[in-house]
Amino acid sequence: MKFFIDTANLKQIKEYQELGILDGVTTNPSLLAKEGAEPIEQLKKICEIVKGPVSGEVIGLTTEEMVKEARELIKIGSNIVVKIPFTKEGIKAVKILEPEGIKTNVTLVFSQNQVLLAAKAGASYISPFIGRLMDSGQNEIDMLKETMQIIEKYKFKSEIIAASIRNARHVIESAKMGVHIATIPFDVLEKMFKHPRTEEGIKSFLNDWEKLQKQLKL
Ligand code: E4P
Repeated sequence: MKFFIDTANLKQIKEYQELGILDGVTTNPSLLAKEGAEPIEQLKKICEIVKGPVSGEVIGLTTEEMVKEARELIKIGSNIVVKIPFTKEGIKAVKILEPEGIKTNVTLVFSQNQVLLAAKAGASYISPFIGRLMDSGQNEIDMLKETMQIIEKYKFKSEIIAASIRNARHVIESAKMGVHIATIPFDVLEKMFKHPRTEEGIKSFLNDWEKLQKQLKL
């Protein structure tokens, strides 16, 4: 399973890049707005840190606008993936961009039908927003399961990104069903690392070690 980090924060990206477990980054207009920096410059900096795919999203709503923006975005770095919102205009943009060799990530996907349509259009990545589905009371796990069945049944080339992840359980559920990628927020990654029993265990091992050292000195 590949791990992307879902943030535009350079410190957070650097921290996980240094751990050596990061395969890519996803951003969106809200995440970039949170950082308050010029978005293109920020994406450039992210591409300098991470060699894997870095998603940057288009703002335009028409196919023409999206295609124009995508052709500009890819100038940022060879690892830029263009995030396209799931709309008819977006699907048309995917059909134009993918044959040009521009990788797309169809975003704001909330149903299995949308997954099927984005896969058929040839998107490199498709991002079902499982957290937002959960927030609206729908079964996000079943949605993801059926998404994987569809993708695997027809051997679509699209990679599925479990997006809008809210908790560490979402990562486990995604991994169990073989989802290709999870894009995980920093706070969830931190929670995946921590377990009170690990901390407790280290403390007691060190205490016992110190006791032994004292005994040996007597
Ligand atoms: C995915 O690519 C999106 O950036 C992200 O996962 C959105 O998540 P949110 O629902 O936490 O905003």
